[in-house]
Amino acid sequence: VVLTQDELKRIAAYKAVEFVESGMVLGLGTGSTAKHAVDRIGELLRQGKLSNIVGIPTSKKTEEQALSLGIPLADLDSHPTIDLAIDGADEVDPHLNLVKGRGGSLLREKMVEGACKKFIVIVDESKLVKYVGGSGLAMPVEVVPIWWATTARKLQSLFEESGCVAKLRKDSKGEPFVTDNGNYVIDLYLKKEIGDLQVASDAMLRITGVVEHGMFLDMATTVIVAGELGITIKHK
Ligand code: A5P
Repeated sequence: VVLTQDELKRIAAYKAVEFVESGMVLGLGTGSTAKHAVDRIGELLRQGKLSNIVGIPTSKKTEEQALSLGIPLADLDSHPTIDLAIDGADEVDPHLNLVKGRGGSLLREKMVEGACKKFIVIVDESKLVKYVGGSGLAMPVEVVPIWWATTARKLQSLFEESGCVAKLRKDSKGEPFVTDNGNYVIDLYLKKEIGDLQVASDAMLRITGVVEHGMFLDMATTVIVAGELGITIKHK
């Protein structure tokens, strides 16, 4: 039987939820993979197999999903320490560094996932890359809307040697895509590896106008990969 990509996402998500215990404060991720994990948590709560869970959603979309499932929610201000976060990723490199934010929720995800004791990333095997940017898909950067083109130019020239092309993300109507925080997203397309990721991260964050970028360095504690041949669990 050949499994669909969505079935692989669900397998990884369900495996991650096995690590959830009653009484935990949970970071709830965003995206098509994390959605399965949130569904599963809702199901286990309904069945009474989990209790006393508090969820911190990483997007408005996840908040709506969690509310519809009856998962009790709170926010980071009232729960600054999170026991466990479960979320998907767009890319996972061999050192478990991630690219996230193709769904546009990278800022809240980074705030929540940076505050948790354990961060389990759930992916199907198509997300594994040799290096950050290696999928050829976008590396997202959240920027303030004002003078976004100036910020985009600065980002592009920062990675000039990697053949970077910076593009403003648009929604389905051709308007600038607006994040949950009222910001825009600049998608960076890289042709080559960008070298030292920490240096790249610091350089991006030093650009005035950049709010946050989608590289999640040294944050994942566990990555669960679902593939045709089964589940692989990688630990930091
Ligand atoms: C949301 O902004 C992202 O960081 C998602 O976690 C990421 O894009 C993975 O999404 P999928 O599980 O839908 O691939």
